[in-house]
Parts: sequence; structure tokens; C-alpha cells
Amino acid sequence: MRTADLRASFLDYFETNEHHRATSAPLVPANDPTVLFTVAGMVQFKDALLGNEKLDYDSATSCQRCLRAGGKHNDLDNVGYTPRHHTFFEMLGNFSFGGYFKERAIDLAWDFVVQELKLEKDRIWITVHPTDREARELWHKKIGIKADRIVEHEDNFWSMGETGPCGPCSEIFYDQGPSLAGGPPGSKEEDGDRVLEFWNLVFPQFDRQPDGGLDPLDQPGVDTGMGLERTAALMQHVTSNYEIDIFEKLLQSIGSHASISDREDYVQHPSVRVVADHYRAIAFLIADGIFPGREGRGYVLRRIIRRAIRHSQKLEINQTYLHTLLDPLLESMGDAYPELQHAEERIRRVVQIEEEQFASTLKNGLHRLDRAIADSESSTLNGETAFNLYDTYGLPLDLMQEASAERGFQIDVESFEKHLFEQREKSKAASKFDGDVKQQVLKDEPTVFEGYTEVRGPSQIASIYQEVDGRLEAVEGLATGSEGFLILTQTGFYPEAGGQVGDTGEIRTDSGTFRVQDTTNNGKIILHRGVVNAGFVEAAMDCSYEVGFSRRQDIMRNHTATHLLHAALRCVLGSQVQQRGSLVAPDRLRFDFTHHEPIEQRELADIEDMVNDHVLANTSMNASVCSYETAMDNGAIALFGEKYGDEVRVLTTANGFSSELCGGTHVSATGEIGLFQIVSHSGIAAGIRRIEAITGRQAVRRVKQNNDLLEAISARLNTTQSTAIERIDSLLDENQELHDASRNQSLHVIEEASRDLAKQAKRVNDTNILSAQIEINPSELMAVMDALRPKLGKSVILLGVIQKDEVQLVCGVSNVLTEQIHAGELIRFVGDQVGARGGGRPQMARAGGGKKLDNLQIALDSVAEWVLNRLDRIA
Ligand code: SER
Repeated sequence: MRTADLRASFLDYFETNEHHRATSAPLVPANDPTVLFTVAGMVQFKDALLGNEKLDYDSATSCQRCLRAGGKHNDLDNVGYTPRHHTFFEMLGNFSFGGYFKERAIDLAWDFVVQELKLEKDRIWITVHPTDREARELWHKKIGIKADRIVEHEDNFWSMGETGPCGPCSEIFYDQGPSLAGGPPGSKEEDGDRVLEFWNLVFPQFDRQPDGGLDPLDQPGVDTGMGLERTAALMQHVTSNYEIDIFEKLLQSIGSHASISDREDYVQHPSVRVVADHYRAIAFLIADGIFPGREGRGYVLRRIIRRAIRHSQKLEINQTYLHTLLDPLLESMGDAYPELQHAEERIRRVVQIEEEQFASTLKNGLHRLDRAIADSESSTLNGETAFNLYDTYGLPLDLMQEASAERGFQIDVESFEKHLFEQREKSKAASKFDGDVKQQVLKDEPTVFEGYTEVRGPSQIASIYQEVDGRLEAVEGLATGSEGFLILTQTGFYPEAGGQVGDTGEIRTDSGTFRVQDTTNNGKIILHRGVVNAGFVEAAMDCSYEVGFSRRQDIMRNHTATHLLHAALRCVLGSQVQQRGSLVAPDRLRFDFTHHEPIEQRELADIEDMVNDHVLANTSMNASVCSYETAMDNGAIALFGEKYGDEVRVLTTANGFSSELCGGTHVSATGEIGLFQIVSHSGIAAGIRRIEAITGRQAVRRVKQNNDLLEAISARLNTTQSTAIERIDSLLDENQELHDASRNQSLHVIEEASRDLAKQAKRVNDTNILSAQIEINPSELMAVMDALRPKLGKSVILLGVIQKDEVQLVCGVSNVLTEQIHAGELIRFVGDQVGARGGGRPQMARAGGGKKLDNLQIALDSVAEWVLNRLDRIA
């Protein structure tokens, strides 16, 4: 049975059994950051298995291309040295999302194994999870597998990644006979090749959470995976996956480059196998939109390419040739995977570029590694040497580890990582200074700027850069989700300059969409910064660009309005006004200028009116290029302190009101501005003032908001907009009257209270002593004191009031008595008794916060004696 026939028969079988036939998803999972690659057939059905997505069908079958070369599922290091491991492989599978469960999954699998594959029943072994009694019973009682052929294994639990669907599983093994070493699962010899696992039936029952917890799924599912290559090996009676038909052409081609013509020799050679395995991974990764890079998926691809190159050098293949392996691969897999054919040219080119760049440095690097090993005094190579090789020759750590292991050496990984970390920290610090794109030396041609007249058009991607450690590095392409900078041959995107912010929008190729988040320039080269939204983009591709037009229109309105504002300022405030800075954004404009006095409200209104008059006049804006001298002769305004070239661009209103040197984008006639409104005005430094204003949609929105507010106010006042002010005035008058009345009322109360209190004073000689608790609002305590003092003449007065369970005290002493009696001292004496704290001048003191309310009366009673003591003592 050829591999292609096995693939077809599996899919046909499950389709006949009412499964939807799904095509293989790409190697990069869509919208799933939890896994780097598609590691199994179930990845594209993850959401359906979790019950988060409802598909049109509840069971499916697929032949899925998979990659296990990073993250939780990573077989990279075993490849080539075992007959079964691969980075890239194909997985046949059937899936159920809330449809059938364990029993039917086992029935279907069994039927396929014995009816379609015609494998011998007596050679089958089964493993189950120790807790899965149900699966054990089904295999034993229903299918008839002997009990001693069903092995319980703790490892029979499968998870997609650190999070996501998982559950117990049951595996099917086939005994290939005594010609191979090895034994049944669970035996000491299980690692041997004789009894081969070829199908895994997983019963996802949980959703693994980031903290490791297992949340039960509402509906358990089925996820099975049969290794296409290993099952093909069983069917073709060969003992290694590399001997099946699908690898034949590829191995032969690698063998011939290595001058190994004997089939037996090249099929068995580990390096030939590594290259064959890796080349399949490389070709499919590139077909699925990945480019070699320094991070994430791009880095995995780069490592795989570099490993393939190293094994090629071990085979003494000393020229670049990997790119030619696409022909044998297409021969064996092109029919099943049309995406390989579509990406043919790209795969060849990307591989060749990477090969050429790496081959020579690798040779030198490995040579140095050999020398370092020869010089090393211990069997552990120090981390610093390894790091220098990594840094200078780009030798990946795993590659150095492998090459060292072959010579019986190891690398001090901890110290290697320490050096790597230190270098990253250093370059992070450096990038704070030179990370600015504008300082990078780029070797691109100047970009043709079409944005004065075009916001969309055809172009070509000249080059692509990514920021790595604060510097721009050229890359071949960018895949979905990758951020970077595109340089086009021509563009309509305006790069941030002269206060005008950079444009945003989209750049599209046949293969993907790049969302432009900002545009800047590096000299005459325009850089579009953004992220690939879908698919991929690649250098040299044809593309079309489209600037986000409504945002750009808003910006143009604000830019032209800035020129009109500048001209109006010079008319109203005088021609000494000079621009000192500006911001032209989509939602507002800001203009800083020299002016030494505050601007009067009337002047601001004149400026705003003048700009709006010119908006309504709908004068056309003309751009022309002329010499600097001509522009100056014609009265154009240039920016103070700015350097201009010989040729300048001048923006002039047709009526001559405004004429300025400017490289920005503008409306074609002032009427497009719609409406201009000043929203703030302030001084920002000595002699520099700032005006902020809005136009167009923002201004209209503000008018509407203000109108809504006025409407709400009128409704609240129960009147109309035109009479709202009148109504507010009458409410204010009413309020004043009420205020006055209430004040009179309280003056009256105070007068009454003080008159009563005055009667309570003790007269000793010519001095009146008064201490009393009163009931009054504490805010009026001073008023009472003020009213009492003239009534009592030469006096010592101490008043206490309780509010909110606290005592407050105030004390007043006539000037003539302050030699003997200090109000601050007296208030402390009384305050101490009631727990109040305070103090003051000789004539007047206050205290508050007293909590000992019960002591207040005694404290007040003690005042007279204290005062008399003082008077006596002094006398
Ligand atoms: N997801 C399981 C595996 O990869 C079965 O498809 O083994």
C-alpha cells in the first residue's frame, strides 16, 4: 500500500462513516497563541472540542500536516537517530465534538485496522489509562482483545499544550515480529522497535487551565491520531519510516549530492535522514508563510535550516543545494499539497538565501569550535567560548551541543545563557539611544512619494525590516502576527514630518495584508510600521497600498486650518507673530507662537471668525515648487530656524491670505475644513503662547454636544434655550435674596444669644468673667464672641459648644488684660480637662476635638477661679 493510498483509504473510510472530510490546516494555528505550531490533527478543531465553537458537522476526518519542533511537543533532537521521529509528519485522524464517544471511536478504529488495513488481530496490543475502566472493558469484552494484551499505562494521557483540551488515551500497537528487537508496551524491552505504536485514540474530557487545574468539558470528545509515515512503514513491511515510498526520491537526491549511490547506504545514513526530515519541515513552513528570523517561529525555521546545512556538511556536501530538494519533494507530495506548488518559487529562494548566508560562517564557526574543544582542558566547554561562537558565527546552541557531543564534550549551558542575557541587557540599554528608526543606515532607494495626489495605488515591496534589540535588520518576509517595517518603491503614505502625524492604512499583496500603524521616514526612505494581519508579505512582491482616507482627510483639514490660523494671528496680533511648533493630528491641531501678552477674548473671537470666513470663502489651495528666493520675494512665510533646500514647496490660498513653505498634505479648497473652533488658549513659556483648535467632524461633534448640553440645561430649568440665561439670572437673584435673608436671620439669633450670655457674666472689680456652654452652629461661635466683647468691655470670655460628640472652645481676652491673662494659656487649661487641643494669640484662642463631654461643665466652672488667681497673683 503506497502512502498516498493509505491517506486516501483512511479519509474515504471515515467519510463513508459520516465524517466531514476537512483539509489540512496550515502549520501555523489560526488565532491560537498557546501553541507555536500545529502539533496534531485536533489543533484546528480545538474550539469545537472545547465546546466554544459550533461547526456544521459533529464529526470530521483529516490528514493534517504537523510540526513538532518547539514547545511542549518537540522531537527535533531525536530526528535522524531513531527510525520513527520527525519534525514534520502527517497525521490521519477522526474527531467527534459531542457526537459519538469512546465506544464508537474504538469500533471504528478496530474496523479500519482489521477490515481496511487487514492487520493481523493477534499481533495487536492495546494500552489504556489505569483509570479508564470503560476503554479496557470495550477492548476486552466488545472487541475481544485478550486481557493480557491490554496494558495499563500512566502515560496514556494526552494534552495539546500547557492549556487546552486533554484527556485519557488508548493506543494501538502492532507486533512486527521477532526479527526486530523490542517487546510489548510496559515490558523492559518496550523501547525497541518490534511492537510499534501507530494509532492514538484520545478522549478529551478536560480543558487544562493555566494553573494546571482540569476543568471538565460539558461534552467529552474524540481525537484520534494515526501516524501516516509509521503506518505506511507497517503496510510496506519496512522497519523505518525513511524507507517508505514518500521519502525515496528525497533521500536519493540527498545521497547523490553526497556521492552515496547505494540505496542501502543513503537510506540508513543518519545525516541523510536528518536533511530529508528537515527539508520537508522547511518547505512546508515557508509554504505556510514563515520566514527565517531571530524570534519565535522564524527562529525555529532558521534552526532547522542550519541543522540541515550542518548535516549536509557532515555528508561533505560543500555547495549550496538544499533549495534543489524541492523537486523530489514536489514529486512525492505535490499532488497531496497544492500549497507546496503555489509557493514553489518562494521556497527555493528563501532556502537559497539562508543557505548562502549560513554555509560559510558555519564552516568557519565549526572549525573554531573544533579548535576550542582541542584546547579545552576539561570535557565541558566553557560558556563564554560557546557564546562568542554563537555571537560571531551565529552557531545555534543546540547545534554546538550536538557537534560537541559527537566528540564526547558538553557545553556549560548555564554560563552560556548568562553571557547571552548580559548581551541582551547591554543591547537593550544601547537601543535606548539608537533605537530611533531615523538613525539607522538603510541602503534602500529613496521612496517615490505619491501622497499629494494619491491615497491608493499599485507598488512593490522594496524591502522589509524587523526591529531586533533596537536595530533594524533586513528580513525576507513577515508572517501573520509579525511586526516590522515595509519599504515600498512608491507610496501615498505621508511620513510624520513638519508637525503632521504619519498616515495609517493597509498594504496588500496576493498573499497577505499588512496593517500600517504609523509612517515615518529615514531621509528619503519612507518606512511603514505595522503588523501582518493575515497571510504573509515578502520582499519584491507586487502590492497595493491604501491610506486610511477619512483619518487622512481629518489631518488635511487640520493642516490647512493651521495655515489659516497662522495667517489670522498675524493679521489680528501683528506680523511679529512667529510659529514655534505645531501638531497636526486627525482629532486636533496645536499651534505654538511668539507673543508677549495674553490674548484678549475679543481678539480670540476675531481670529476664529477670520479663519471661518476663509473657510466659507472656499478658496482653493495651490501647491507649487519654486526657489527659496522666489518664495520669499512672493511673501511666503518660512519657519524660523528651519533649513530649506534650494527648491521649496509653497502652499498658497488662491486669494493670497496665506502663503507658507510646507511639505504637508492639504485640502484642495478651504471649504473642506467645514468649521474651525478654538478650544483652548494658554501661555506655555515666557513669550510663547499656544492655541488648540478643532475642525471638520470634531468641530461639528462639539457643536452638537454643546447644543445637547444647552438643551438639557433649558429642560432642567423648564424653559427654552433663548430664555435660559434670563431664567438663570432670576434664579441667581432669588438665591442671593434667600442668602441675605438667612444671614439676617442668623445675625438676629447671634445678637439674642449674646445678649442673654452677657447677663451671665460675673463681675469682679471692673472685669467681667464669662464662661458658658452655648447651643449654636460652631461656625457662628466666633460671631457670638465678636458680639459679646463690646457688651462686656474689660473681660475674659470662654465659650464651649458640643457638636458631633466633640467639644470646641473659643476664648477672648481684652487687650488690657493680656499682661495677666493669655487666652492661649487659658484655653489649654480648660482644653486639658475636656481633652481638646488648641492654642492661639493672647487675645484670642481656639481648641477642638475634646472627647470628654461630661467634663465640660466642671471645666467651665473652673474658669473664674483660674482667672481670679491670675489677677490676684499679678496684683
Ligand atoms: N492528539 C493526539 C496525538 O497527537 C491524537 O490525535 O497523539
